[in-house]
Amino acid sequence: MTSAEIIEKEARYFLGTYNRLPVVLERGEGCYVFDLEGKRYLDLMAGIAVNVLGYSFPPLQEAIKREVDKLLHASNLYYSVPQVELAERLVEKSGFSRVFLVNSGAEANEVALKMARFYRKRKYGKGYKFISFYRSFHGRTLLTLALTAQEKFHQDLDPFPPGIEYATLNDLQSVEKVLDEEVCAIIVEPVQGEGGIYPCEREFLEGLRKLCDEKDVILIFDEVQCGIGRVGKFFAFESFGVRPDIVTLAKGLGGGLPLGAVLVDEKVSASVHRGDQGSTFGGNPVCARSACVVVDEVSEENFLAAVREKGKYFEKQLKKLVSTFPIAKEVRGKGLMLGFEVPGKAKKVAEEMLKEGVLVNACNDDVVRFLPPLIINQEEIDEGVEALKKVLERI
Ligand SMILES: Cc1ncc(COP(=O)(O)O)c(C=O)c1O
Repeated sequence: MTSAEIIEKEARYFLGTYNRLPVVLERGEGCYVFDLEGKRYLDLMAGIAVNVLGYSFPPLQEAIKREVDKLLHASNLYYSVPQVELAERLVEKSGFSRVFLVNSGAEANEVALKMARFYRKRKYGKGYKFISFYRSFHGRTLLTLALTAQEKFHQDLDPFPPGIEYATLNDLQSVEKVLDEEVCAIIVEPVQGEGGIYPCEREFLEGLRKLCDEKDVILIFDEVQCGIGRVGKFFAFESFGVRPDIVTLAKGLGGGLPLGAVLVDEKVSASVHRGDQGSTFGGNPVCARSACVVVDEVSEENFLAAVREKGKYFEKQLKKLVSTFPIAKEVRGKGLMLGFEVPGKAKKVAEEMLKEGVLVNACNDDVVRFLPPLIINQEEIDEGVEALKKVLERI
């Protein structure tokens, strides 16, 4: 079948929710993917921060294949080895107390929010409210969407669950205004992703930590996009020097297979009872085995140091384009999570980059986002920047 035929069939059979770029991906190698006709693309999106080890990374492929031959699925009625080995790795690396494994970022956040309610309700008999931040993105379930403070995601979906308050990122006073005794948790992305790549200031996260300590409110870091080495430390909280009470992970954790995790500290885990949460597929052995490889590779200090170096280099090259092309306004981000602001032109840039054989994403009309595989090298970054330069010259 050709790409044109697949695109035509998708339009006929698939629920029409996605705005896809017209490319049918068939296979990948390193930081490159290939379409059905064999055209090669440099992938600067890594499946939206998922393929942290790129494509066809041999240790990952081999570990997955071995696990597939052993056990495709085991329900959580029983124990299974990869799941426990992954939990051990995550707890040891993070210093958190316990892990719960899920299938996606939205599910990880749902679980985290439930845990925060359990904590407050069981300790104080009240506490149902959540605080999130403008421009955030926390998922597509009704609760995580309600916490996603971007109007474009809320159209025709009201009423949302009650008790949700919004505050402004990097503005502690705006948090204090809505922080009353019914609040059980504050959820924040240390670097906002879908909203346009906006990093939190360290002092802001320190301030949130202090407020949460004073009021005994649970601080949740949504590291679904910015975790797993993306910003140059295995966990984003490490690069800000602020520990939340709960961290949520997904995307890069499975290296390409669907897996999420919720890491909780001792005080939260102590308030959780048997039967409080479950998942049919959460912690599937094949996904968990894949994640063990990801954790082992990505948490190596040399690997993380290289991410920080490559991130700085990439950012510097993008900044040169900002000073050359007036339509480009700003570069923001941390590590290999970068946003390039081109007001009103981001979608056009993404379409034109595709023609240049490079995959990037427009978070919205104004921001082009780069989330390359963490194994990207300097030549590949140069190739992407060169393509962007060409595109900026012609639009
Ligand atoms: C910060 C953040 N949280 C949660 C999610 C939702 O993850 P998923 O699509 O796996 O449910 C995303 C997805 O983009 C995200 O970027």
